[in-house]
Amino acid sequence: MNDSISVLVTFASAQGSTKEVATFIADRLRTRGFEVDLRPVGEQPDAQPYDAVVIGSAVHNMAWLPGAADYLYRHRYVLAGRAVWLFSVGLSPALQGPIGHLLKQSVPKQISDLLNVVSARSYTVFAGVYRRADTTRLTRAIYRLIGGRRYGDLRDWRAIERWTDQIAIALGATEIPAPASR
Ligand SMILES: Cc1cc2nc3c(=O)[nH]c(=O)nc-3n(C[C@H](O)[C@H](O)[C@H](O)COP(=O)(O)O)c2cc1C
Repeated sequence: MNDSISVLVTFASAQGSTKEVATFIADRLRTRGFEVDLRPVGEQPDAQPYDAVVIGSAVHNMAWLPGAADYLYRHRYVLAGRAVWLFSVGLSPALQGPIGHLLKQSVPKQISDLLNVVSARSYTVFAGVYRRADTTRLTRAIYRLIGGRRYGDLRDWRAIERWTDQIAIALGATEIPAPASR
C-alpha cells in the first residue's frame, strides 16, 4: 500500500562498505513496498521527485566524505522540503572503554551542521569495515587508545535493518517482513 511513496537512497563510499549499507537499506525499503532509487551522490540525483531521501556517507577524519557534504549543501533547499534521514558509516559504534563511550555519544561538528541544514528526521552511525591491512602503526595505536579492539567487517546488519524499519514505519509501512538473511 506504499506504492505512491518514493524514496531516494544516496551515498558516498570510499572503499565500498557504505555502498553496501545503502544497498541493504534500499532493498529493505523495497520489501516494505516503497519505490526506491539507489544512486551515488556523485551522480547528483535530483531529490525533487521523491517523498523521502536517505543520505549516507563514510566518515573520514571525523567528517563526511566531501562528495556527500557537497551534495547535501548543493541540494539543501529541495532537501529541506523532504523527509530526510542521514547515516554515517564509521568506527565509533564498535569502540569500547571510557573514551570509546564518549566518542559514541558525540557527533562531529561538520556532521551536526549537516543535520541542521536539512532538519534531518533522524541520524545514526553504523559500524563499518576497518581492515588491519589498511592501517599504520600510528593509526593502530590511536585506534587502541580510543577503545578500538577489533578489525575487519564490524557492520551490525540487524541494527541497520532496525533503523531502516523505523524509516518505513515513519513513512506509513504496515507490512512486517521477516528479517533479511545475512
Ligand atoms: C583514512 C580513513 C580515515 C577514517 N577516519 C574515521 C573517523 O574519523 N571516524 C570514524 O568513525 N571512522 C573513520 N574511518 C573508518 C571508516 O569510516 C570505515 O572504515 C568505513 O567503513 C569506511 O566506509 P567505506 O568502505 O564506504 O569507505 C576512517 C577510515 C579511513 C580509511
